[in-house]
Amino acid sequence: MAGITGRTVLIVGASSGIGAEVARRLGQGGNRLVVTARRAPELAVLAKDIRASGSACLELPADAMDPQAAAQVVASAVAEYGSVDVALLNAGQGPDMSMDDVSVADVSRVMALNYDVVVNYLVPLIAQMGDQAHGGLIAHTNSLAGLMGIPRQGPYSAAKAAARTLIDAARVELAPRGIRFTSIHPGFVATDRVNADSLPKPFQVSTERAARHVIRALEKEPPQAYFPWATSALVRTLRALPTSVSSAILRSLASR
Ligand SMILES: NC(=O)c1ccc[n+]([C@@H]2O[C@H](COP(=O)([O-])OP(=O)(O)OC[C@H]3O[C@@H](n4cnc5c(N)ncnc54)[C@H](OP(=O)(O)O)[C@@H]3O)[C@@H](O)[C@H]2O)c1
Repeated sequence: MAGITGRTVLIVGASSGIGAEVARRLGQGGNRLVVTARRAPELAVLAKDIRASGSACLELPADAMDPQAAAQVVASAVAEYGSVDVALLNAGQGPDMSMDDVSVADVSRVMALNYDVVVNYLVPLIAQMGDQAHGGLIAHTNSLAGLMGIPRQGPYSAAKAAARTLIDAARVELAPRGIRFTSIHPGFVATDRVNADSLPKPFQVSTERAARHVIRALEKEPPQAYFPWATSALVRTLRALPTSVSSAILRSLASR
């Protein structure tokens, strides 16, 4: 797809950060936006901006951790606009969490926040897009932290890795039905949430720059997209090294 225009685009996790910026930019392209997250007031402001820039917009406050609510969002999008052409599953959160200071419930909560929220949309979207003559694109905002276990981000790394693996399998299975899948792996992005924690953030990029990368991925539809270049190269190099070496490097980076 060259340029996202004239499409029905569902963005899950659109009330702030990367999702809100992507929604605003796609709103300038003559699309039909369906935006969802839990915070209704933020969604209402976003939807007003999108309509003002010339796109149709349906805002649907919903908790992505609730499977029925997620299925209802997909159904409402189809009832309003007839199809979902592109879905960006962007809801997620990576709290600062050391493994010597977590409860089992903490780890389960991070899994729900980053994995269940994907599954709850993936299943109804596959059903919907499988029935569409043109199929559709399902993109997920994953993370470079999903490519390996990052110190103080272990539960988040694990949840994002699980989502990537699930989507990798779906990509192979559903290609014959015209459903494409893109996993997008950002490094650190200067959103309000991330700025509020004390984690080191090497090579951090602005929310605007991250949104440009995400939209490029939606246009080009690579199976995996990585940005920024420097963090991506660092993570991919660490992955190629023996675990004893990469662990020592990560330990040294984490102690700075
Ligand atoms: N910022 C980074 O450095 C970075 C790096 C790599 C990957 N990412 C990923 O990028 C995505 C966006 O993160 P961000 O940094 O832009 O943070 P953000 O501003 O906190 O955005 C997260 C979005 O997800 C929504 N959300 C969270 N839980 C939800 C739920 N249960 N149901 C519905 N919506 C939910 C939030 O809205 P409500 O709170 O209103 O529900 C918000 O709109 C996340 O998946 C994150 O893991 C971020």
